[in-house]
Amino acid sequence: MEKEKLDIEEFVECKPVQNEEESNLFNMDEKTEDVSTEVEASSSEKVAEETSKEKFIRMFNSIEQLSNETKQSILSYLENTDFYIAPASSKYHNNCPEGLVKHSINVAETLLDLTNKHNLVWERKDSPLVIGLLHDICKIATYSQTEKNVLVGQDPKTRKNVWEKRLVYTYDNKLPHLGVHGDKSVAFLLMLAKNNDFTIQELSCIRYHMGNTQEGDTQAYSTVQRLEPLVVWTNIADTIASLTEPILTV
Ligand SMILES: [Fe+2]
Repeated sequence: MEKEKLDIEEFVECKPVQNEEESNLFNMDEKTEDVSTEVEASSSEKVAEETSKEKFIRMFNSIEQLSNETKQSILSYLENTDFYIAPASSKYHNNCPEGLVKHSINVAETLLDLTNKHNLVWERKDSPLVIGLLHDICKIATYSQTEKNVLVGQDPKTRKNVWEKRLVYTYDNKLPHLGVHGDKSVAFLLMLAKNNDFTIQELSCIRYHMGNTQEGDTQAYSTVQRLEPLVVWTNIADTIASLTEPILTV
């Protein structure tokens, strides 16, 4: 799969996470105003020009099976974090500003596509959206931007190396309290749910969306994939999405 190189200018323009936002990560009472109505109104006027954040919120609000209280709880929480500006990784897929929200949309669309093509049967029709959009919320407050000196070439006259300062993402997990990856996403969702909103099928697909790559998961994964084969399809969707996303090389 060809990996597209990102425009470095776009990367440099990325806004760092504000300290104030980081300190509010566990405060779910912040910004309780309804952010969905405003975005819905603007996106219906100009869908073609909607941002990744607007697209995420539009898709998320289209989920019928989640209660309004839980939708509002999740959207309010995300609004107080770096979810909409964070990368999806530090050096792999979508390691660029807004990479996380773009990857979440990508996985949701890929899982919907796989569902249609392979006639996958879910307990609830919106489960691919729920899983795709929310599987990686564990990556909130996980990456920081730092400057790095990068060797970009050699001066032809002086033969000296030429270095440039560039912004890169580093792994910097500020919320290690609730788990490592899939387990952490599940913990966040259970923390944010206001009703009994998520099915075991959805939570297990989110928990094991990385297959058995999470440390200590080998035995559990082989059991779960037999009980719930859709975890395998979720892992496939996450893998396909990741492989089609750009990687910034510095
Ligand atoms: Fe993912």
